[in-house]
Amino acid sequence: MIRIGLLGCGRIGEVHSRSLSRLPGARLTAVADAMPEAADRLASQFGAQARSAEAVIGADDVDAVIIGTPTTAHFDQIHAAAAAGKGIFCEKPIDLSSDRVRACIEAVEAADVPFMTAFNRRFDPHFATLERRLRAGAIGEIELVMITSRDPAPPPIGYIRTSGGLFRDMTIHDLDMARFLLDEEPVEIFATGACLVDPAIGEAGDIDTAAVTLRTASGRICQISNSRRASYGYDQRIEVHGATGMLSAANVAENLVEQAGPEGFTRAPSMHFFLERYEAAYAQEMAHFVDALVHGARPKPDAQDGLRAQLLADAAALSLAENRPVALER
Ligand SMILES: NC(=O)c1ccc[n+]([C@@H]2O[C@H](COP(=O)([O-])OP(=O)(O)OC[C@H]3O[C@@H](n4cnc5c(N)ncnc54)[C@H](O)[C@@H]3O)[C@@H](O)[C@H]2O)c1
Repeated sequence: MIRIGLLGCGRIGEVHSRSLSRLPGARLTAVADAMPEAADRLASQFGAQARSAEAVIGADDVDAVIIGTPTTAHFDQIHAAAAAGKGIFCEKPIDLSSDRVRACIEAVEAADVPFMTAFNRRFDPHFATLERRLRAGAIGEIELVMITSRDPAPPPIGYIRTSGGLFRDMTIHDLDMARFLLDEEPVEIFATGACLVDPAIGEAGDIDTAAVTLRTASGRICQISNSRRASYGYDQRIEVHGATGMLSAANVAENLVEQAGPEGFTRAPSMHFFLERYEAAYAQEMAHFVDALVHGARPKPDAQDGLRAQLLADAAALSLAENRPVALER
């Protein structure tokens, strides 16, 4: 039985608690939050004890911690958990600074503890099936990858101001998917962007619309299309074009009912946002983390995957700022 401590009882902390509650090999022992009422709520909902973050990290009855606190808190909590010899499941992004991500990796490697970066989309059943078929050679050599990733509506402007920008906050998921699907590191990135959804986002120094192109050494190309707005719901699609065929994963609709009439056909909108659309992915990623701990294996995506995606996000920001393609370190 793997005993888990949770740091951060907000939106994502609740998702992970629910996933854990369905795993027979794991138990949520203790939870912590800067707001005691948030910790008390999850503790009573999932049969855990509410403690301070320090007490959770140092506890003898905790084998691993889930870090679901705001990104600014990850660095200190990763260092403390590594020093305490705990396995670590850390929400994305690990940190907004690549240098600080490297420092986290050093601490994790020095302590030799398992570490997983929470890129949940790799575990989405649709995208995971697509990736398995790619690896099995279903469409031959990969030539083009297209990732569409558009939120239904922008987050509050206060969130935008501390988010690290669209590339580090939102595109980072797609950059990880690009690496996952291309199966080859990108060597060049070009990003362009604009503020078309809400002028307040531009005034906060960010963009809300972006197109990112990645190229690998062998010439494979990936295009990412991002927007902070999609009037028809959360838009999450993937298409991979290969030498002998094409694989695609469409949006997941709220239901499969189609209505027909003289005006044409109507279908339900896409699932509203990430909590609904990726519910199964969150459950699968937690199952993978627990399974790795049970078998003494290293979970994946790991800290290096977290760093790689972060470096791509940094390069995208540089490309946008200087309006030029940016070469990437191998
Ligand atoms: N993988 C995904 O799809 C996904 C989705 C949402 C959020 N996230 C990531 O998860 C993290 C949390 O996001 P959220 O949306 O759940 O935020 P949230 O604000 O809903 O929850 C964060 C919680 O952490 C608590 N907290 C703040 N500082 C703390 C500290 N030092 N110690 C303990 N608790 C503390 C807050 O009181 C709050 O309850 C962020 O890094 C975010 O990028 C990932």
